[in-house]
Amino acid sequence: MTRILGFETSCDETAVAIVRDGVEIESNVIAAQTDLHARFGGVVPEQASRAHVRAILPCFEEALSQAHADWDGIDAIAVTHGPGLAGALLVGVNFAKGLAYARNKPLLGINHLEGHVYANWLESGPSVDEPTFPLVALIVSGGHSDLVLSDGHGSYRRLGRTRDDAAGEAFDKVARLLGLGFPGGPEIERLAGSGDPRRFRFPRAWLEPDAWDFSFSGLKTAVRQQVVDLGVDADQATPEERREKLPLADLAASFQDAVVDVLATKVARAAQTFGATRLALGGGVAANRALLQRVEDMAQVPVLCPPPRLCTDNAAMIAAAGFFRYRSGERADLTLDIEPGLPIA
Ligand code: KG4
Ligand code: ZN
Repeated sequence: MTRILGFETSCDETAVAIVRDGVEIESNVIAAQTDLHARFGGVVPEQASRAHVRAILPCFEEALSQAHADWDGIDAIAVTHGPGLAGALLVGVNFAKGLAYARNKPLLGINHLEGHVYANWLESGPSVDEPTFPLVALIVSGGHSDLVLSDGHGSYRRLGRTRDDAAGEAFDKVARLLGLGFPGGPEIERLAGSGDPRRFRFPRAWLEPDAWDFSFSGLKTAVRQQVVDLGVDADQATPEERREKLPLADLAASFQDAVVDVLATKVARAAQTFGATRLALGGGVAANRALLQRVEDMAQVPVLCPPPRLCTDNAAMIAAAGFFRYRSGERADLTLDIEPGLPIA
């Protein structure tokens, strides 16, 4: 039995977790900063760093106590060292390094995006015992839209990425256009549930015929133009005016359909093209059940998707990825540094 202590502070969640054998969550503590950033409509980096400093020690103590764990039971410490906000990553990395040194425990630096992939095996139960390869993964969050091929643990090839906005960023920006709160994804999904996805024909950016990349800025501009055509000043209108005047459900449904259409089509095609045995989703946008439904409809192979609370940022996924790296003998040392622009491959 191997127990990994995981830390995640790459963006606006301070998270600490303890995971057994890469799959079983013993504790998963998350201090979200949503309220802190909501009034700015996005994450404010300096505020995020300070909030991590305030939250990390209480979160760590809570994670130990929930798991009824002490130091003897911890085999290694895994921490996100990139990609993410530099000041935010520094808090987690330095805290983890301090603990590893003080308690003489092995240390592992984890790529946040790899964590989103490994969230798929948490609490998987008997139906999915170990990751199988090749695996095609779609990681869609507020900061990333990556299409990835993995041939084995820790081995990745990036097939495609966004050329402009990330998928979650598009949800957040469109939510703002519609006068909704931040983060926008959950609210758009809720409204879309009662809307007509065919009322507005928004563009799908398929790009070149063989392209695996994504692009969402044209879609965002099209929604903005539609808002103007519906008689709302896209720059000046208050959130209340927007919500009153606009057919929110139909706009949300039509927008979501355009995003889901492109994401699902490309990931299903990639799985087939590269002979994947499994298809995995991850990242905050994977919490969207319409996306999961469409991917399941289109894919020829089993589709994995974490429950919504494990799609968004957490430290259990970092501990899970850490387990497989620990098992393969990997170790970081105290020179481990943050890598804000770290790609998955
Ligand atoms: O993975 P995550 O928690 O943080 C990053 O690493 O970015 O993802 C947050 C993003 C936000 O843009 C949020 O709007 C989006 O995920 N999101 C959703 C849903 N829940 C969260 N997007 C669409 N549908 C959802 N249900
Ligand atoms: Zn994330």
